[in-house]
Amino acid sequence: AAEIDHNGTSPEKLLSPVLSSFWDQPESWTLDTYRRHEGYEGLRKALAMDPDDLIAYVKDSGLRGRGGAGFPTGMKWQFIPQGDGKPHYLVVNADESEPGTCKDIPLLFANPHSLIEGIVIACYAIRSSHAFIYLRGEVVPVLRRLHEAVREAYEAGYLGTDILGSGLDLELTVHAGAGAYICGEETALLDSLEGRRGQPRLRPPFPAVAGLYACPTVVNNVESIASVPAILNKGKDWFRSMGSEKSPGFTLYSLSGHVTSPGQYEAPLGITLRQLLEMSGGIRAGHRLKFWTPGGSSTPMLTEEHLDIPLDYEGVGAAGSMLGTKALQCFDETTCVVRAVTRWTEFYAHESCGKCTPCREGTYWLVQLLRDIEAGKGEMADLDKLNDIADNINGKSFCALGDGAASPIFSSLMYFREEYEQHITGKGCPFDPARSTAWA
Ligand code: NAI
Ligand code: SF4
Repeated sequence: AAEIDHNGTSPEKLLSPVLSSFWDQPESWTLDTYRRHEGYEGLRKALAMDPDDLIAYVKDSGLRGRGGAGFPTGMKWQFIPQGDGKPHYLVVNADESEPGTCKDIPLLFANPHSLIEGIVIACYAIRSSHAFIYLRGEVVPVLRRLHEAVREAYEAGYLGTDILGSGLDLELTVHAGAGAYICGEETALLDSLEGRRGQPRLRPPFPAVAGLYACPTVVNNVESIASVPAILNKGKDWFRSMGSEKSPGFTLYSLSGHVTSPGQYEAPLGITLRQLLEMSGGIRAGHRLKFWTPGGSSTPMLTEEHLDIPLDYEGVGAAGSMLGTKALQCFDETTCVVRAVTRWTEFYAHESCGKCTPCREGTYWLVQLLRDIEAGKGEMADLDKLNDIADNINGKSFCALGDGAASPIFSSLMYFREEYEQHITGKGCPFDPARSTAWA
């Protein structure tokens, strides 16, 4: 990695653990360990500031939402009306479910106090006295660990009444969801939290105006909020010294698939997949990269020719995809792209909430066509049908799930149309299942 220097990011700064700096230590999740690593120091600094100045500080840091959309975090906080006489809420979206995405769950497991500290800071800024963490219910060990960390924080005076003598009162509720992908969509999450079936609401109004119980609500991703204490502690200029002007700071990249060392890699935004692969051992021995996703299956797939694009919002956008959740799923040449897209589309069809017709019906028909093509029963006209159905879902559905479902169809047809055609002309999958480990 010594001679790599990309986008002004020096090699020694390429891997710069902040959130993950002590994950490998024994009992990294306890309050004691967190305090030994400057834990809750950012909170002390925040409480000494005026809440409006604190919002401006986070806005100036350039922190962008880590849940996928990259919306500026400080700006979201600023949207909360003040002096409106209504309760304000902070809801942390910990319902991580995007295929390939696995950063928030390890973060919560290894370092839950960074989230709790960030929650207290955010609530002080937006004048909220009740915060919620909406967690994927399936991850029971994380739920237990989170409950324990919240208990520790109450006991130490970081939650509850008159926090650190500041006059701030804050209750924190941990809520376990029941495992629906759609409940990660922020308004469906709010419906679910209110006790209803999770289905997206019409936006606008955005949650900042009418969110939980119709009150102004900030919905932030786990990693976004957990990044705030370090920004307060080390300063916004330190944060801005990493990444690029429009995408500053560090972030967690989840490397998975046919790679030598899958896992979480914390690095400045703007690092490239080539750099990450070189530092982590690369694609598994004897194989080469065929396609990859920058942010899970909802972001258009890219290929080997995109190995050097900066992994930030602008760089990935310019390549025709989206940074999304930074879930870098890598597939080598043994993977059948039709099989991969079929599997993803089955997921979207299963998780479609059924509220709107383009997504509910469209994902069903995409699956039927893809299964036929994969089984060698497809026709050339099916490729145009796939494109046409995806086109009728994309931008015409009620929420982002529909667009996400269309995305692998478009990108796979753009880069691998020939492989679809081979399935049709050869009346079956050209890949020997015994040779492919991806679907073993
Ligand atoms: P969005 O761009 O519509 O909104 C992003 C955030 O900004 C929301 O919190 C929204 O309330 C806020 N916002 C946007 N415009 C606003 C305005 N004018 N006023 C006030 N607030 C405003 O994106 P969306 O639909 O919330 O999320 C899509 C992203 O979610 C995708 O990019 C995808 O990568 C990601 N995603 C993540 C998953 C995960 O497991 N982490 C799962 C599925 C998708
Ligand atoms: Fe539900 Fe899909 Fe429509 Fe979203 S796009 S509201 S998930 S049916």
